[in-house]
Amino acid sequence: MEQKIAELRAAAQAEIAGAADLKALDGVRVKFLGKKGRLTELLRGMNQVNAEDRPKIGKVVNEARAEIEQLLADKNSALKAQALQDKLASEKIDVTLPGRKIHRGHLHPLTLTLNRIKEIFIQMGYSVEEGPEVETDYFNFEALNLPKDHPARDAQDSFYITEEILLRTQTSPVQARVMQKNTGNAPIRMIAPGRVYRRDEFDASHSPAFNQCEGLVIDKGITFSDLIGTLDFFCKQFFGEKTNIRLRPSFFPFTSISAEVDISCPICHGASDTCKVCHGSGWLEILGAGEVHPHVLEMSGYDSSVVSGFAFGLGVERVCMIKYAIDDLRLFFENDVRFLNQF
Ligand code: PHE
Repeated sequence: MEQKIAELRAAAQAEIAGAADLKALDGVRVKFLGKKGRLTELLRGMNQVNAEDRPKIGKVVNEARAEIEQLLADKNSALKAQALQDKLASEKIDVTLPGRKIHRGHLHPLTLTLNRIKEIFIQMGYSVEEGPEVETDYFNFEALNLPKDHPARDAQDSFYITEEILLRTQTSPVQARVMQKNTGNAPIRMIAPGRVYRRDEFDASHSPAFNQCEGLVIDKGITFSDLIGTLDFFCKQFFGEKTNIRLRPSFFPFTSISAEVDISCPICHGASDTCKVCHGSGWLEILGAGEVHPHVLEMSGYDSSVVSGFAFGLGVERVCMIKYAIDDLRLFFENDVRFLNQF
């Protein structure tokens, strides 16, 4: 019996020493101390030991158990410490490596343009209004003096959702919405930026979706010269002090006296025949404008014998392209960082 216990001790010592990890060590524990383990088995054989030898043998068995338990505990701590060492070594960070640069996002050139437009008009006391992109035929056309079958509707071939609902073709419906919201009260001094839609090609200078910024002023005694002064001020602020404006006669159903407004080329100032922006003409069209038609005032609740007003509609992509000399409209939609990074 004593011989067997000595052998078992030696075997346990060897196996504990050889356990490579915690799992293997637990296997050794079960093998020697488990319910069906080797030491338990030895104890079962105690009934074959002489009664007088039992205390002595019992003592040896207990010593063996205590020793094995101690060895298991020591090895357990050693393996845990080793595992921690390995983890620390494998996760070591080299703090001397240079960091990776975080790319900082920034605003899209169209957003920057719109922010600048807003800034200029807000300092002149304008409010910023909004209207829906899905608009009724009434606000998009009828309230602007374009009754059904008016030929001027053809110039804005549109995306209809139903007979009466369409994607707005211009920001001008916001004029009628704001007038009706103000129920005949003046003054109104507002801009309304936003996206508009027209059935169109998608190429370097056309897109079926683009942005406009509407403007509307209504008060007593507003004249066409107020419009000219306002646009001249805006263009000088936006494009630079040297910029001049030029008006050409035009037609819009919702303005009585109407004009197409050009600016002098802010890139070459009319001095270059090969200018990439104005192509040598020296002038660039940026907006449509005019005196608000009396009928439009009346339809939305204003007395045209008491108040008058002016309105304008600015092409946001267009002024952005001119300001930054961008030659292809599609660049705005591609979101190529090599393009966007330049603003
Ligand atoms: N809505 C017109 C367009 O899209 C522009 C415009 C606005 C003209 C306001 C006059 C007054 O062409």
